[in-house]
Amino acid sequence: MTDLRSRVIGWVGRKYIERKQKKGVDLLSLLPESTLMPLRRNELDPVPELGATRGTDPIARLKLPFGLRAWLVTGYDEAKDVLAAAGKFSNDYTNLVGTAAMSADQNPGGLGFADPPDHTRLRKLLTPEFTMRRLSRLTPRIAEIIEGQLDAMAASEGPVDLMQSYALPIPSLTICELLGVSYDDRADFQRLSTVRFDLFAGAGASFGAISESLTYLMEIVKKQRESPGDGLLGMLIKEHGDEISDVELAGLADGVLTGGLETTASMLALGAIVLLRDRETFERIRNDDEAVHGFVEELLRYLTVVQVAFPRFAKEDVEIGGARIAKGDIVFVSLSGANRDAKLGENMESFDATREPSSHLAFGWGVHRCIGAELARMELRAAYPALVRRFPDLHLAVEPGELSYRQTSVVYGVDTLPVLTH
Ligand code: HEM
Repeated sequence: MTDLRSRVIGWVGRKYIERKQKKGVDLLSLLPESTLMPLRRNELDPVPELGATRGTDPIARLKLPFGLRAWLVTGYDEAKDVLAAAGKFSNDYTNLVGTAAMSADQNPGGLGFADPPDHTRLRKLLTPEFTMRRLSRLTPRIAEIIEGQLDAMAASEGPVDLMQSYALPIPSLTICELLGVSYDDRADFQRLSTVRFDLFAGAGASFGAISESLTYLMEIVKKQRESPGDGLLGMLIKEHGDEISDVELAGLADGVLTGGLETTASMLALGAIVLLRDRETFERIRNDDEAVHGFVEELLRYLTVVQVAFPRFAKEDVEIGGARIAKGDIVFVSLSGANRDAKLGENMESFDATREPSSHLAFGWGVHRCIGAELARMELRAAYPALVRRFPDLHLAVEPGELSYRQTSVVYGVDTLPVLTH
């Protein structure tokens, strides 16, 4: 195809996507089935095609409609190379949908879709709030949140949905605490989290829902401007209030909510399934305080709940792993594919809680690497031992085959997880 012809087809394709996006159509639904393969799993494991693709073509051309040129990266080294080359790739979503498709109040904001220099400036503001020293203030509060949820579960008769009663409230209340949302606003925040989560669990967050969430967060920001607290929002206002607008603050808060809620909730639920399948590990986590560290690291790698990184758009021609990526091409990095690459060790397709922790890309790599990684680890390391200690007889309330795993969600997970506590 001539260069001009492919550009014209690409332009028409982008306009088509822009129109669909404006109408609130989920972009995933526009993609052909074959391109959704990296999001598909058999229960906890990616479908075998993902490993097969990595074996033959760790960086492969994807056939996309609308004249779009795209790549799927499944090899560990190749994935790391793409994520590390921030100067050569853009995260700006408007590369795909155009600025017209996203009004200011619909832009997901935050860090994930930003490029330097905006990304560098915003990330520099947030980083001090995510140091271990600053996060350690949350340790007692996380323990209290966990105990509160366990008490509520113990009090209920019959099956309990571990998703609604444990996996979701822990990150939601932790993020409330992190942001410094006042006690008066917590009920609303919890409701927002649940709505947000339902949307994730469904067809994917629509831009309408993002706009609703930003409006609510703008109100929280306004209250913090009037009387800044000790949480992340209050600290940002106290220290950098003049450098950052309310919209940017709400965008950062929304980025923290979307980044930290569904991911951690999915990890908690899927990790509980792993524990219920593997009684030996269940007992080890119950009895050995140290075992949880290796367990959580291996779970992060094995489950890789963020299955694919944000799309990267090539800003120039780039060569990665022998592939020639042209300017404008879209690159999808399959983190779940990369984390099972045989280059990382033996039997990487299986879960082994006793393995020496392996390197992994579950939190991404490079300038966009997850800013909340340590917070997530804190929550996971506290939540699993507390769960198995409180309920040594915990078991599924349904047959394993009846669990409803999500079908094509970027963040993999289950919608509900019915368990019996005794
Ligand atoms: C187990 C839980 C988590 C997992 C697996 C996870 C995974 C990831 C991954 C893979 C990325 C990079 C995406 C990319 O490069 O395209 C990322 C970015 C991000 N995560 Fe997390 N995350 C988790 C928890 C959290 C928490 C608890 C927070 C905050 C409270 C958070 C906030 C963010 C933010 C703000 C970004 C964007 C960073 C940037 O672009 O500079 N995440 N996360």
